[in-house]
Amino acid sequence: MSTITVTGAGYVGLVTGACFADLGNTVTCLDIDEARIAGLNRGILPIYEPGLKELVDRNRESGRLRFTTDYQDACRGTEFVFIAVNTPSGQEGEADMGQVRSAVESLARVVSGRVIVVNKSTMPIGTGDWVASILERLGPPDLQFAVVSNPEFLREGAAIADFQRPDRVVLGSTDVAAARRVAQLYAPLAPGDVLITDLRTAEMIKYASNAFLATKISFINEIASICEKLGGDVKTVARGMGLDKRIGTAFLDAGLGYGGSCFPKDVKALAHMAAVNGCHPQLLRAVMEINRDARRSVMWKLRQRLGSLEDRLIGILGLSFKPNTDDLRESPALEIIHLLRAEGARLQLYDPVAMDKARRIIKGVEFCEDAYAAAAGAEALVLVTDWNEFKQLDMARLKAAMAYPLFIDGRNIHDPEQLRRVGFEYYGVGRGQSPEAGNGRVTRPTQVRATV
Ligand code: UGA
Repeated sequence: MSTITVTGAGYVGLVTGACFADLGNTVTCLDIDEARIAGLNRGILPIYEPGLKELVDRNRESGRLRFTTDYQDACRGTEFVFIAVNTPSGQEGEADMGQVRSAVESLARVVSGRVIVVNKSTMPIGTGDWVASILERLGPPDLQFAVVSNPEFLREGAAIADFQRPDRVVLGSTDVAAARRVAQLYAPLAPGDVLITDLRTAEMIKYASNAFLATKISFINEIASICEKLGGDVKTVARGMGLDKRIGTAFLDAGLGYGGSCFPKDVKALAHMAAVNGCHPQLLRAVMEINRDARRSVMWKLRQRLGSLEDRLIGILGLSFKPNTDDLRESPALEIIHLLRAEGARLQLYDPVAMDKARRIIKGVEFCEDAYAAAAGAEALVLVTDWNEFKQLDMARLKAAMAYPLFIDGRNIHDPEQLRRVGFEYYGVGRGQSPEAGNGRVTRPTQVRATV
């Protein structure tokens, strides 16, 4: 069993720390945010991730997992230090490395003897060498270190399963023996493949993987918008394409585009790195542009049917960037809400999990206790996040609550025919139909119906 320190008690750090502790290692999670560490020491998690609280509680109680803000204390005698701090987008789209710099500088002041530093967060190509140069410069003379890039491939909402059953473990280092020692940490999980590479290749594998998945999403969203003009159902098109094993069905769900803390930031950062190094990342730029347009298509559909959105009452189902998380970062819902409010629409919002976070950042809207309340009196309902709960709604009850039954299914989770049978005017994304201009045809309700 090993002694591991994880710096950064955010989503990547907590999942990594708790999962390694669960494998029997002794893990210390370190963060400079005192309130966060105090909360964790009382069993309060700063994020919602299915199964994580149970894992943290179990390992904290067994003494294998602890939390601290003290670098000295956290790094004493440790064999591995995982860097899992944030690398947010800077002003030009570059990855802001301020937190990594300060974590590595703090580390260099307290480590001694032999240590393997593992870069876990998504870090620009070349970071491994840069981290090594900081340790070289600031570390004590007796320090023997190796830097290993071990990118994470954890999806929010499924992070624990992704950690415990990895398709692959990627390890990049100039020190192959160190990379093998990190590989040993994952051995009990029997990962599909363990790939040992040089540092820069490992760093690029992470960016290229996220950029490729984002490209698949933008590709299918472009096909969806063509289907809206020419006919054809994008869901069936994606299935038909995906049955070809070379293509695969994953990440071909057309919708309102990708959000979250990873794809938008990483595609932007890769494009930035490419551009400042003399490349022309045209494909990556198109991926970002299509993603922006995917969100905005909702506005066009609503305007087509309702005309001016001034004073229109619109219900929004789902706020988080995807289901099973309360994460609102880069959520399509935030942009759509912003655009709707700018056009004077009145909004009723509902999300199964993200309401508390949403209340802190979205003002001037009504937060509702369920989907039916968000639909009450509305002239349109926009489904933004594909929560399971929204697949099981009583559609007749939902329709009865609305003033006008316009349903924009931004994630294609409903069957168009079934919804039309219930009486909805239904538009999905790329489902062979484009909303015709209905200005004036959709009448403004004279009185808002009570509710359900
Ligand atoms: C993503 C990657 O999937 C992880 O492998 C990676 O480790 C992580 O980023 C990261 O870099 O940390 P995550 O951001 O949690 O994970 O979310 P995904 O499940 O990949 O979804 C991203 C976005 O794409 C969501 O907004 C989702 O709604 C959207 N999406 C996904 C689609 O619009 N269509 C699809 O077919 C799939």
